[in-house]
Amino acid sequence: MIEIKDIEKSFGESKVLKGISTTFETGKTNLIIGRSGSGKTVMLKTLLGIHTPEVGTISFDGRIYSELTPDEKRKLRTEIGMVFQGSALFDSMSVEDNVAFPLKMFTSKRSREIKERVNFVLERVNLVDANKKFPNEISGGMQKRVAIARAIVNNPKYLFCDEPNSGLDPETSIVIDELIQEITKEYDITTVINTHDMNSVLQIGEKIVFLKNGIKEWEGDNEQILETRNKSIVEFVYSSDLFKKVRENLLAEADDEEGDHHPHLGHDKK
Ligand SMILES: Nc1ncnc2c1ncn2[C@@H]1O[C@H](COP(=O)(O)OP(=O)(O)OP(=O)(O)O)[C@@H](O)[C@H]1O
Ligand SMILES: [Mg+2]
Repeated sequence: MIEIKDIEKSFGESKVLKGISTTFETGKTNLIIGRSGSGKTVMLKTLLGIHTPEVGTISFDGRIYSELTPDEKRKLRTEIGMVFQGSALFDSMSVEDNVAFPLKMFTSKRSREIKERVNFVLERVNLVDANKKFPNEISGGMQKRVAIARAIVNNPKYLFCDEPNSGLDPETSIVIDELIQEITKEYDITTVINTHDMNSVLQIGEKIVFLKNGIKEWEGDNEQILETRNKSIVEFVYSSDLFKKVRENLLAEADDEEGDHHPHLGHDKK
């Protein structure tokens, strides 16, 4: 579990994170959502330790980052896997060398062990027969799988993904989302994902933190987000005409039927 308390982060005069507190739970896909520029990437980079907040604390299963010794910080870093926006693979390295990279960097494993582990995670992300290929020889969806394999190769306790399905078609996006969710559950990882994809929000949003201009405007799960009347959320979620229609139906249904009935999407109302 990652707990953040009152995080503030500025660049010069401009304050980007304005006192954010929340909890990211273990074994769950925790989502940070919000419009472009709302502070999602800065938030993730702050969790990663790339940015240091001026105010507030970040605690990784009870370990408060700012209070750790340099050695403890280094150890914690090895427990974090990261999928960067756009995959960020090394173009000049084969798929297997990309995935092996963190093991060579952070562990003293022998080459046979490295090979076995690389093959294991590549199989886990359903990428077989691609070991010797280079990133520019495989599709965008396959590149994401390689990036996920690389992020989990060192058995992370924490997995951070910045827009893991950007640039993918909707069907491939869902497959990638589901893969991340499966891995999160299988290995009991605390996963934090930045996204502005509503499909992802509905599909894997077990915990959702909505940022607006560097403030946590709302949090909840993928059922609550469809029912909230918070204006900023409604504008964000229902920015497409399709979702606007869905919402009108849901609200009409909720107003019609009193009591604690929970409206759902599968209901055809005409
Ligand atoms: N290194 C930096 N120096 C100065 N300002 C920065 C830096 N990184 C981010 N910012 C500013 O912080 C704000 C939030 O940026 P951030 O990249 O976190 O947005 P985001 O929510 O990830 O957007 P997107 O959905 O487009 O990826 C922006 O106004 C951006 O210009
Ligand atoms: Mg971003």
